[in-house]
Amino acid sequence: MQGLRLDQVVHDQAILQVVQDSISADQPCKGEQTIDASGTAWKVTVTPLEHAQRNMQAELEGVAGHEAASHYTYFVVAIEDLTELRRLERVRRDFIANISHELRTPLASVRLLAETLEEAIDTDRDKAQMFLEKIENEVQHLNGLVSELLELSRIESGLVPMVIEPVQAEHLVREVMARMLPQAQRHRVMLHTEIKEGNVLVAADSKQIARVLVNLIHNAIKYTPSGGTVTIGTALQAGGQVQRFFVRDTGVGIRPEELPRIFERFYKADRARSKTDFIGPGGGGSGLGLAIARHVVEAHGGRITAESRVGYGSTFTFTLPVAQRGNT
Ligand SMILES: Nc1ncnc2c1ncn2[C@@H]1O[C@H](COP(=O)(O)OP(=O)(O)OP(=O)(O)O)[C@@H](O)[C@H]1O
Ligand SMILES: [Mg+2]
Repeated sequence: MQGLRLDQVVHDQAILQVVQDSISADQPCKGEQTIDASGTAWKVTVTPLEHAQRNMQAELEGVAGHEAASHYTYFVVAIEDLTELRRLERVRRDFIANISHELRTPLASVRLLAETLEEAIDTDRDKAQMFLEKIENEVQHLNGLVSELLELSRIESGLVPMVIEPVQAEHLVREVMARMLPQAQRHRVMLHTEIKEGNVLVAADSKQIARVLVNLIHNAIKYTPSGGTVTIGTALQAGGQVQRFFVRDTGVGIRPEELPRIFERFYKADRARSKTDFIGPGGGGSGLGLAIARHVVEAHGGRITAESRVGYGSTFTFTLPVAQRGNT
């Protein structure tokens, strides 16, 4: 870049303007900008280099500082990329807004129920009993939410050590399948398996991976109308280094613009779409299930992805490393 003019190196007009401002004002200038469409943010600081030096010299020589100032020839132009910082600030703001909302909703119901209970307590014992049960439900939901949050933050900060052992892929699938069968039957959704290379040993914490599968199947049942099918499968991926697991449903699907966001904590695509018998305390969900799943899979060195077509269904796929079967 040596010997080039600044406007031959930097093409952003806004940055050049800050430099121009600094030159014409004879003083340090700062500018900050966010380019909205891409979320790119930068900060530019322009400092005339010889400012202090020349002023001092000018004073010594009895020349007015102002006159000397117009001879600046060197400037330090520092351009800082703030994109990641701004993104993290946004994530934090969203997180606080989301968690406040998630906590406030059940709290508001509890308050309302308690007020109504107060009115009914002497006059109508049956009604009072009903309100007590509803309060109990809301409190349970709150409790579940707080435990999920704690668990997520523990996994995120690496406080939940994964107990990695060789586990048979088919065993993982069958065990979770058996656990989820009653729920599927209750919601009249068929559960199928599609197992290939089921005897491959994967390196996994079976308890944590079971929880991932449970989360995925729970979602699949929740977003699949009665009469639909949920398929849980596993197969060796080309190359033989990783085993793939998937949960496929014939449900409502996820819109393309929402797909990249569903693994974020608290993200819920259009909540009205889940089956009505899942909505309400404990059933509506808090939008943490997939965030937890992603962290568990990534802690195993795997990857989790989702594909979907609105009206046709969704497929969630994750990979796990195949266990090394050394002779030692
Ligand atoms: N199989 C699926 N079909 C359609 N939409 C899905 C499916 N799985 C997830 N989603 C969408 O992704 C969102 C996030 O899922 P996630 O499991 O993280 O949260 P949740 O199920 O709403 O709550 P939680 O799992 O904490 O009880 C859901 O709210 C839903 O909109
Ligand atoms: Mg879920």
